[in-house]
Amino acid sequence: MKSKIHTQAEDEEEERDSEKIFGVFSREGLTMLGVGVGVVVLLVIITTASVVVTSKAGSTAPAQPFPTGGDMLDYLIQTGDIQDRDGLHISWYHSANNKSEMDKALRSTAMVLEADVNVRGHNTANETNIPIMAHPPDVDSDNTLQEWMDSVLKSKKGIKLDFKSIESVLPSLEILQSRNKTGINRPVWLNADILHGPNVPNFWPVVNSTAFLELIQNKFPEATISPGWKVLYLPFTQGYTQAMVEEMYQLIQHVPQRVTFPVLAVMAKQSWPHFSWLLSQSSRFSLTLWQGKENPSVNDLLFIRDNSNPERIYYDIYEPVLSQFKEAAMQSKRSRQFYPGGDLVDYFKPKNRDGINIRWDSVSDRASLLSLLKDSSGGMLVIPVGDKKDKPDIPVVENSSPELSLQECLDLVLASPKLHGLYLQVKSQVLLVPTLQLLSQAYDKDLLYRPTWINMNVSYGSFETPGYIEGAEFLDTVNQVFPYVTLAPGWPIEALTEGYTQPLVEDMVQLFKGAWQDISLQLRAVPLGMVYPGRRSLLQAQPRFSLTVQHGPEQGSYNSGYMGLMSIRGGDIHRSYYNMPTDYKAKLFLDVFTT
Ligand SMILES: *[C@@H]1O[C@H](CO)[C@@H](O)[C@H](O)[C@H]1NC(C)=O
Ligand SMILES: *[C@@H]1O[C@H](CO)[C@@H](O)[C@H](O)[C@H]1NC(C)=O
Ligand SMILES: *[C@@H]1O[C@H](CO)[C@@H](O)[C@H](O)[C@H]1NC(C)=O
Ligand SMILES: *[C@@H]1O[C@H](CO)[C@@H](O)[C@H](O)[C@H]1NC(C)=O
Ligand SMILES: *[C@@H]1O[C@H](CO)[C@@H](O)[C@H](O)[C@H]1NC(C)=O
Repeated sequence: MKSKIHTQAEDEEEERDSEKIFGVFSREGLTMLGVGVGVVVLLVIITTASVVVTSKAGSTAPAQPFPTGGDMLDYLIQTGDIQDRDGLHISWYHSANNKSEMDKALRSTAMVLEADVNVRGHNTANETNIPIMAHPPDVDSDNTLQEWMDSVLKSKKGIKLDFKSIESVLPSLEILQSRNKTGINRPVWLNADILHGPNVPNFWPVVNSTAFLELIQNKFPEATISPGWKVLYLPFTQGYTQAMVEEMYQLIQHVPQRVTFPVLAVMAKQSWPHFSWLLSQSSRFSLTLWQGKENPSVNDLLFIRDNSNPERIYYDIYEPVLSQFKEAAMQSKRSRQFYPGGDLVDYFKPKNRDGINIRWDSVSDRASLLSLLKDSSGGMLVIPVGDKKDKPDIPVVENSSPELSLQECLDLVLASPKLHGLYLQVKSQVLLVPTLQLLSQAYDKDLLYRPTWINMNVSYGSFETPGYIEGAEFLDTVNQVFPYVTLAPGWPIEALTEGYTQPLVEDMVQLFKGAWQDISLQLRAVPLGMVYPGRRSLLQAQPRFSLTVQHGPEQGSYNSGYMGLMSIRGGDIHRSYYNMPTDYKAKLFLDVFTT
């Protein structure tokens, strides 16, 4: 039906078009046509010339429509400013506020202009509702937002407005709304510091978050929201905490817009685990690293880049650091600074992103380690951590002879150029702190850039078992000493006589639900085959937890684990790992890929 109506309408249009054509080619029309063509040619020459001149100065308005809520990378690709979807290619101009700065910004090669908005006379007796371009403490400016828009809309540069007070938001959004009638045709980012960030006391004023978000939804919803924390940089202080990031997430999780969170670049690396968590909550989220007076280090920026998708980080960083960073980032031979709490699939990049293609090898002593580092193509190194004879708090590779200290073992692994991750099985409670301390030292020396998992069997709820570390203590200790790991908790063997029952699974999920680290639940294949409801609960928990199933000769034949292995294989292949020796793995491959 629909297509028929459409065709009819098109036919009618074609008829009308042909009438026009006949009209033009009537006798008296022909001379007119000749003159007309000449005028058109002349016009084309003039406009082309002016386009060439003005686009050299970077100030041609965009030729094509573009939604104000659209993606900045898409826009800059459309304008030809960048070639691929990588936030590092974008250049920014900061505080393009008063007329002379704005003009400088418009003449520059910067692709996006960032400017501060307040109302004229804010917090004075003469406060108005006229939005002006000024950064506090200034409350006046030679440039209003109206005038700023007049000039900026003649260029093709992107827009980021940083609101310095809630009073400035509504009148500014009204200006945007009215400008939109004739076309803004570029992404508009709306930024405000709406929460208290690092080193900022609670009495310090921030922009009212509820009001900011409501005004945007009501007045100008087609924008990218850039909600930030007010932050003060002090060296040697904590960066953004999980609580700060969580608070932001609670506020922003239901907004329909694209969201980019502004993050002070010097504090980004130390707070990376939390931002990595935040980014994983929605594909609409990105980060904009910005800088204040202090230069961020190139090394810190490389760390962020190495652990993120290039499409999801913008770098509003000044020269000369920006150029140094770009140069370093583009070097192909540079080794990756992988976040040790990061995802295995992202590190090893196994075929089909399938966890089954990641190797797991056991280290028993120095000789076995050296041969793995030499011959293996890479994979997780399973290292049992026991205590040194007569010195129960010095970690060593358990039962190694001659004894190999964990320190030396780590030194050897971390010096290897191959892709190896660490799976540390901490066999007793007293060894947890010293093990984490060794990791922390290596991390502080910029040496620990590989996936690092901490495995312990824990006691909790329905699997409360004497002789095992309490679940909460395990979590607290890791958080206090070295939190940048994947937590790999297992159940005490004593609790598994009836397999992984539903209460066992539910209690473990409950215990680690609030942890911000990646969690991989450690499973044994044989008891996994026993009961179905527990397996179902495990697979339901898989969006939050990855699953690692372990099997080997000490637990029984390959076939004794078949049920358990196959049930895990039925879950998410990108979040399931198989800690098995090569001969068992070969049988698993046969079962999985040939039947
Ligand atoms: C404009 O802003 C720049 C940078 O903040 C400043 O150096 C300059 O003096 C200002 N010009 C006027 C006319 O206010
Ligand atoms: C308010 O405006 C009046 C008249 O223009 C002026 O005399 C006065 O200094 C202004 N007050 C402030 C706080 O700016
Ligand atoms: C923030 O704005 C909301 C909605 O406009 C209002 O109800 C609330 O009282 C404001 N909060 C503060 C602290 O001013
Ligand atoms: C801006 O204008 C476009 C085109 O007319 C329209 O689709 C869009 O909804 C407008 N945006 C806002 C926020 O009013
Ligand atoms: C945890 O228990 C399993 C048996 O269920 C055992 O194989 C493993 O070595 C234990 N891990 C640690 C760190 O003690």
